[in-house]
Amino acid sequence: MKKVITYGTYDLLHQGHINLLRRAKALGDYLIVGVTNDSFDRDRGKLNVRNNVLERVEAVKATGLADQIIIEDYIGQKIDDIQKYDVDIFAIGSDWEGKFDYLNEFCQVVYLPRTEGISSTMLRDNSQKTVRVGIVGCGRVAQRFPSESDVVSGVTVTACYDIDSEAARRYAEAFPNVEVCASFEELLDKTDAIYIATPHLSHYEYIKQGLLAKHHVLCETPMVLDGAAAKELYQLAEEQDCILMEANKTAHCPAFNHLIVLIKSGLIGDVVDIEASLSQLLDRNGREFDTQQAGGALFEEGSYPLLPILKLMGINYKELHFYSKMEGGVDIFTKGFLRYPSATCNFKVGLGVKTEGCLIISGTKGYAHVPAPWWKTDYFELRYENQNDNKKFFYKWDGYGLRYEIQEFISCIINHRFSSSRLRRRESICMAEIMQAFAKRRGVETI
Ligand code: CTP
Repeated sequence: MKKVITYGTYDLLHQGHINLLRRAKALGDYLIVGVTNDSFDRDRGKLNVRNNVLERVEAVKATGLADQIIIEDYIGQKIDDIQKYDVDIFAIGSDWEGKFDYLNEFCQVVYLPRTEGISSTMLRDNSQKTVRVGIVGCGRVAQRFPSESDVVSGVTVTACYDIDSEAARRYAEAFPNVEVCASFEELLDKTDAIYIATPHLSHYEYIKQGLLAKHHVLCETPMVLDGAAAKELYQLAEEQDCILMEANKTAHCPAFNHLIVLIKSGLIGDVVDIEASLSQLLDRNGREFDTQQAGGALFEEGSYPLLPILKLMGINYKELHFYSKMEGGVDIFTKGFLRYPSATCNFKVGLGVKTEGCLIISGTKGYAHVPAPWWKTDYFELRYENQNDNKKFFYKWDGYGLRYEIQEFISCIINHRFSSSRLRRRESICMAEIMQAFAKRRGVETI
């Protein structure tokens, strides 16, 4: 019996896939089809896949051409599969010509003619309207947005606005497809969605105006510094049938998401303690130290360490305390404590104090150690009493990492999902409530 193997994503299964499978099947007597799993696709930079792995497997099955379907999980698996299934021919479309010649050592490699004029990318692009995003606030963070959105389909940056017209002009010069708008209203006229990367205190008004103009809004973290305001804005978004998302990039980081899932699956037992730290030594003349612009370490950095705490322990903490070192009216360092019924959590944030930035989650069976920079990690380790049980996990973190949150934002828009499981609205509201408690100096002691 001659065995043939072929691989693909098979997203939005189309005639090109069916032709390829038919041609591959005709090469032998038994066809094995490898379908990439979701995290493998994400790791190799394919961020736009519309169908999940189960749907894609079902679609391949429905063609009736595959004798066996397997899942492709990791780089190098093709060699393992060829040997494991005793494969005679590896077949793939001609768009891969030459790329799999290294498999000739293990079996015959055949490049089959690709069907012209159709691809999953094309179907994805045609099946959705491209979301035109306007940038509000053309500073350092916003500079990263265009190249990151380029790798996500269904989104394009078309316009920018800044109260400093010179900053907007420079931005448009750096990104030639982006048009400068003289006013926020003009920006709203020319776009479907906005990305807000302005100082904290201006977020509320921009979000509200954006939503009232029926725009989807992605707003830099911290979204607002007031729980009631966060609640009101999320409600308004739903009433306006628009997506409002807080741009907490750690929440969308592939490694962080997997860490949360592993811990929720009990791999370190019950969580009893979380420690998370983050610090930066910044120029004292910057906005981050300005009391008038809600400067200080907690507002600037707090939403990152609060994320693992709220995701793992929930929003119903019993006590909240802060210890802050103040300078010029802002906290240059804050240590926060949250007590839960069966766990304690603490975090440290610093703008004028440097500390080890790691995340440690302690459980009854073991602990997770995520070294700095854990907030954009590609690596973590689960550690146990018996060191032989320790496990290291590695992931891919591409570019500036904004692509993951942009992809989720677009996915929420397409699928009308008002709340993302990566950062629930209630978690974002809880962060705003914690910021508010701090602003009102509730539970704050200075050191
Ligand atoms: N294929 C083909 N003809 C097409 C599209 C795909 O023969 N028009 C083949 C590919 O060469 C590959 C298999 O189908 O052997 C699965 O490819 P996949 O990457 O899943 O499909 P694409 O449509 O190319 O997907 P994308 O646009 O996301 O790259």
